[in-house]
Amino acid sequence: MQNIELEKIVIPLLNWYYQNKRILPWRENQDPYRVWVSEIMLQQTRVEAVIPYYERFMERFPTIESLALCEEEVLFKLWEGLGYYSRAKNLKKAAQKIYAEYQGQFPDKFEDILNLPGIGSYTAGAVASIAFGQARAAVDGNVLRVITRLTEDGRDIMDAKFRKEMTEQLEKIYPPKECGDFTQSLMELGAVICVPNGAPKCEICPLGSLCGAFQNGTQVQYPVKKKKLARKIEKKTVLILQYKDCIAIKKRGKEGVLSEMWELPNFDGELTRQQLLQQLAEKNLAVKSLCRLECAKQPIKHIFTHIEWHMACWIAECENTAHEFVWVTRERLESEIALPTAFKKVFNHS
Ligand code: ADE
Ligand code: SF4
Repeated sequence: MQNIELEKIVIPLLNWYYQNKRILPWRENQDPYRVWVSEIMLQQTRVEAVIPYYERFMERFPTIESLALCEEEVLFKLWEGLGYYSRAKNLKKAAQKIYAEYQGQFPDKFEDILNLPGIGSYTAGAVASIAFGQARAAVDGNVLRVITRLTEDGRDIMDAKFRKEMTEQLEKIYPPKECGDFTQSLMELGAVICVPNGAPKCEICPLGSLCGAFQNGTQVQYPVKKKKLARKIEKKTVLILQYKDCIAIKKRGKEGVLSEMWELPNFDGELTRQQLLQQLAEKNLAVKSLCRLECAKQPIKHIFTHIEWHMACWIAECENTAHEFVWVTRERLESEIALPTAFKKVFNHS
């Protein structure tokens, strides 16, 4: 990467940002709590999807203290649909730490920020620069795309060493009085101009005359991303167990995906009708009827980061209940309980 060249982007990029930045709720002020929550939500979710969640979150948890003291069930219900619930768990843990160790004041030292649960170098850089005006870069996928195109850098953007080096290079060109705006200008350019999937809007890009990829027509070659390992496919058999107007749910264990979240009853592997009936009999459940879910003759798929669930879905009418489950009405399930999207997909078919 050529450091000297890179310095030339600062002024045109900031000018462009000031004239073109989107109006977004987390840009109303630089309160570190608001900036932090927005950056956590934006990590795995698109801006348009985040906005309504963010607004509800800020209304329900306006302060670090309110988040630190919140009921986890309320937090998860608010998070429902955003996915990656560990983000929500860590938000609460970090709020508790700030409450206990920093008198409820968000720490401004970079190392302290980085030490909070759920905060990695990207988020720490974003908060330090946007909320505290420090020359810290926040290198996410958007920024990696912009810079590798500008400099025609063919190194693997999944490589942690490369990311660290890019962070250091960028921090050298940070404009001291406009650190937060510079962080956001890079993200913004990546989000609206230097967009992914081979179709950047170079004709209207403020950095066009400085950009190696545009000059040489090589935009589609960057960023270089080495293929990740294929996701592991796990077959599951998932059940809607009905007793009168209630259905059965259960808390998941502490390990693995969706730890400690609610789930529908399920078994590993694709069970036959016979095997399923036997499993239910072992739980002393008397089953009146058992059907494959209509509209779901194909397994319902749900994709996590490293795993893919293929869920064969059944609906059973029971004549009694079993203690290992919590039996809730459909209304309560919808209004009060955060059911992860994987199971919500099954529920919505029933
Ligand atoms: N993506 C990540 N952080 C962002 C921010 N602060 N504004 C817009 N998009 C973002
Ligand atoms: Fe991205 Fe094109 Fe701008 Fe280069 S000129 S930074 S490739 S949008």
